[in-house]
Amino acid sequence: MEVIIVNDYEQLSQRACDIIVEQVHMNPESVLGLATGGTPLGTYRELVQANGNGKIDFTHVSTLNLDEYIGLDSSHPQSYRQFMKRELFDAINISETRTHIPDGRPDDLEEECRRYEALIEAIGPPDLQLLGIGENGHIGFNEPGSDMDGETHIVELTESTRAANARFFDKDEDVPAHAITMGIRSILKSKRILLLASGERKARAIKRLLQGEKDVNFPASALLAHPHVTLVMDQAAYGMKGETDAG
Ligand code: GLP
Repeated sequence: MEVIIVNDYEQLSQRACDIIVEQVHMNPESVLGLATGGTPLGTYRELVQANGNGKIDFTHVSTLNLDEYIGLDSSHPQSYRQFMKRELFDAINISETRTHIPDGRPDDLEEECRRYEALIEAIGPPDLQLLGIGENGHIGFNEPGSDMDGETHIVELTESTRAANARFFDKDEDVPAHAITMGIRSILKSKRILLLASGERKARAIKRLLQGEKDVNFPASALLAHPHVTLVMDQAAYGMKGETDAG
């Protein structure tokens, strides 16, 4: 695992953007795996700016998002589809038809899982998968105890994940209880993984990851088996004193 420690969240966002720009220069038809949550927001802001300055062209890029809440229509403001539209897609030159996110309200949940996994195979796997990490070590929405060899599936969110994500909703009880997520096996199919961590809240998870112990109760440890992971974190996530946080 390549480990890059930067001073703060701003530098982390800049570095992550540079890595994505480099990837798209190398292959303009890159498939990018994308993530939600607070951590990638700065990266998306930098990418919007880079796109505006002509430093990156998304015309031939395709995207595959990791996950979506179950029960939220794709037009719901808190759905990950709307999150991605707001934070990235609507502000860059990508055609919506090239952006893929699981459907959170399909007629048949199992069928949607199969459809999404087949899509990963058909247009992917991602050349570069952007990943955040949950405080409990979840990746995508693969919670502790998840099948380390699972593909796209439905999960019940833990109380700690629902509490961490409540900040995006008006009321705590509005946070969905279930999600559809790429499985760990699906995530590991990516050619390269760009893992981001910012702020003290992530320090414990990062410490566990760097200790290198494979543990089904710590899903991020599955990344240890991947040949090309780049971890970019700020000093606070590394456990050093730092002032910034992704929010
Ligand atoms: C969310 C997302 C993950 C994300 C993680 C961390 O629940 N499903 O993809 O990486 O939690 O979120 P944040 O970046 O807001 O700390």
